[in-house]
Amino acid sequence: MTSGSDGQPVSAAGGEAQPGVLARVDGYILSDDPARLDFEAVHAYLRRSYWAKNIPLQIVQRALKASLCIGLYAPDGAQVGLCRLISDYTTFCYVSDVYVLEAHRGRGLSKAMMRAALEHPRLQGLRRWSLVTHDAQSLYEQFGFRPVAHPERHMERLNPQIYLQETPAAEE
Ligand SMILES: CC(C)(COP(=O)(O)OP(=O)(O)OC[C@H]1O[C@@H](n2cnc3c(N)ncnc32)[C@H](O)[C@@H]1OP(=O)(O)O)[C@@H](O)C(=O)NCCC(=O)NCCS
Repeated sequence: MTSGSDGQPVSAAGGEAQPGVLARVDGYILSDDPARLDFEAVHAYLRRSYWAKNIPLQIVQRALKASLCIGLYAPDGAQVGLCRLISDYTTFCYVSDVYVLEAHRGRGLSKAMMRAALEHPRLQGLRRWSLVTHDAQSLYEQFGFRPVAHPERHMERLNPQIYLQETPAAEE
């Protein structure tokens, strides 16, 4: 048994026959079982998120299938959050699509997901973890993330309008 950064108990996986269970927090389950992901639920959130507005369902499905996803599941089994990890499992991990649905916020669940990510057995010994956030810097600072030391060395090729340019037919 470990405890969360907010002091909440986080029980380690094991003891029960549910595949992929990484932790349990107050009746919620964190799981990396790909079969448990609810693509429609994730899409319903991401398409209204500030970073992936209007993203098509098929893009969400492809992205989740190609990533290590930590899903957050409420006591009734519904998926209510996500942390998507893009990694070579050797040197680097990019943290993406972190969210907790509004009704479930303020209970330490995003911190539990970040802890599960950083402690995940497939993500140990990496040289660099990276992420981009609009306003949640203080969340990630609790887990050792810092502003890039040399922003002038970092480059990107970004098309922030890409999903807004998609036609509705792209979701079919
Ligand atoms: C950000 C988010 C995931 C936090 O989820 P949560 O389960 O309510 O957060 P927690 O209860 O685990 O606490 C988060 C901690 O980070 C802090 N924090 C920093 N930025 C925050 C933000 N933008 N929103 C919420 N909390 C934030 C909180 O104050 C809290 O600090 P504490 O440890 O001192 O209490 C959730 O508010 C959310 O889904 N927001 C919309 C999507 C989003 O912005 N995702 C992050 C993109 S990088």
